[in-house]
Amino acid sequence: MNTDILSINENSLDRAAAIIERGGLVAFPTETVYGLGADALKSEAVKLIYAVKGRPSDNPLIAHVHKDYDISQLVENIPEYAKLLAKAFLPGPLTMVYNSRGVVCSEVSCGLNTLAIRVPSHEGAQRFLKRVNLPIAAPSANISKHVSPVTARHVYDDLCGKIELILDGGRCTGGIESTVLDCTGDVPCVLRSGLVTRDMIAQVAGECDVYMMKEGERVRSPGMKYKHYAPGCQTALYSFDRRLDALDEYRRRRAAGQRACIMCDCRTAADMEDAEILDLGSDERQIACNLYDKLREGEKLFDVIIAVAPEKQDGVMVGVMNRLTKACG
Ligand code: TXA
Ligand code: MG
Repeated sequence: MNTDILSINENSLDRAAAIIERGGLVAFPTETVYGLGADALKSEAVKLIYAVKGRPSDNPLIAHVHKDYDISQLVENIPEYAKLLAKAFLPGPLTMVYNSRGVVCSEVSCGLNTLAIRVPSHEGAQRFLKRVNLPIAAPSANISKHVSPVTARHVYDDLCGKIELILDGGRCTGGIESTVLDCTGDVPCVLRSGLVTRDMIAQVAGECDVYMMKEGERVRSPGMKYKHYAPGCQTALYSFDRRLDALDEYRRRRAAGQRACIMCDCRTAADMEDAEILDLGSDERQIACNLYDKLREGEKLFDVIIAVAPEKQDGVMVGVMNRLTKACG
């Protein structure tokens, strides 16, 4: 199969809509990462997502809708706090989990009685979702367990020959996947951290829990139990306090003839003397935005990426650390 990368315009949107209508897959940009979309009402189309990605069949998908879509068609028991959160943060990188009405096919939620809904803010995503006017089931558009894609080229590198069309909306500005928030209880509960932080949610909703898996418990967000975001080279991860140990490891690896690099923020880079650096930038938004791009750049150029965690660990860095630990830990 030929895989086309097309910028978003009326022609490419017509083509995308035709593919979705006949049960095919279209990769599209969002403000976080690229998604691999299918009609959430068509079982066979959704099954194709799992097959193409090699995704475990018990890891549920998010249904994406445009900003004027009435989600009460799909879900019920929307609590008051969720309405406030939707007003404050949508469209944007916040995915909200509700009780499902069972309208989308069961493969989307893997048989759970809940449904995760996301309204992306990316203009290209909105145009695509408006054009099809359907809930679009979409995971990140990478091969399962690989680093999520933040450019059309990244999608192509993983899915070339497996899908027909990648809508190109430029480089994603968010860089890590949306915050996933359980809105089925009395208090919202973060299942996956992201750019909309717990504090931001608590400010609007009054309170906000963060899900911690207890031993023996069934996971509430099945995706969290899998290894994820792994680049195709060796990795190591050091805390900020151990950054000089990272430099030692870098030197040992280099002395052994390996192509090694250090991935860190620009402040830490100043301590790394003449080491080869993958620079994540300075503030937390930049670091989130650069993380996957640098992991994908690094896996092509190096045998080993030695990552040093930034000193700051709160806010958006909670989500960044979660991804960094899974990728390099
Ligand atoms: O930013 C994003 O969320 C991107 C873009 C494409 O929108 N999508 C994305 O999808 O990251 P994916 O499939 O890679 O991650 C979906 C996450 C998983 O951790 C999954 O377990 C969780 O959402 N999830 C989906 N449905 C759920 C449900 N009904 N209950 C709890 N967690 C759910
Ligand atoms: Mg993913």
